[in-house]
Amino acid sequence: MRKNLIAGNWKMNATHLETIQMVQKLSYRLDYADYQRVDVVVCPPFTALRSAQTVIESDHLQIRLGAQNVYWEDKGAYTGEIAPGMLAKLSVSYVIVGHSERRQLFGETDADVNRKVKAVLGAGMTPILCVGETEEERESGVTEAKVGGQVHAGLEGLTGEQIAGLVVAYEPIWAIGTGRTASDDDAGAMAAFVRATIADIADEASESTRILYGGSMNPGNVAGLMAKRDIDGGLVGGASLDPDTFASVIRYWV
Ligand code: 13P
Repeated sequence: MRKNLIAGNWKMNATHLETIQMVQKLSYRLDYADYQRVDVVVCPPFTALRSAQTVIESDHLQIRLGAQNVYWEDKGAYTGEIAPGMLAKLSVSYVIVGHSERRQLFGETDADVNRKVKAVLGAGMTPILCVGETEEERESGVTEAKVGGQVHAGLEGLTGEQIAGLVVAYEPIWAIGTGRTASDDDAGAMAAFVRATIADIADEASESTRILYGGSMNPGNVAGLMAKRDIDGGLVGGASLDPDTFASVIRYWV
């Protein structure tokens, strides 16, 4: 059985001081039963990871920590980059890899994304591999070709066991930050397509891989999305910045 996972991608928001407050406020709104149903992850900016780690450890919170990006080398002359081992030392459990903003704004290629996925796994963390099509791609009927290609490239060279433990986030780019969500049926169909694509690569692993939906997920649309067989959680941007709202997304069945 796949455990649900809901991750807040805070993007370039929150100082380390704001992060401490946000993590604490979120924790006040969640209880033991919530963590039994959902793995709760927050992904603050790099500069706030140490502060978040400190709150989580000192208050014994069950919130897990994620990073938004990583470089694939262990160390060296890569000014401005962050190595996987640096994140692992901060008790980071998940790393978002290949977010569409990184692909579109910072030129990350499928090959870069695959190197990052491997580096994250090599450091004992779980990649959240992001895939998704643009509006033009959807309109011209190449959604499956685009997303299938990103899944194949991202998983290149991984073992079945690694694929089973992976998280893949399907995030249609036209739904990110726009308030436009994919319909439950479209999102569910694309999650099923992602799982079928994974099954082509590693048949047995595909039932274990967790697939998230991302793109304007909020307290009003989360339950319908989560009802889809192949959607195991969400990658939440804007709605994760307010602890009350994010807690309502996490407690989607209430
Ligand atoms: P929004 O929830 O703000 O649309 O962002 C989605 C996203 O990009 C999460 O990674």
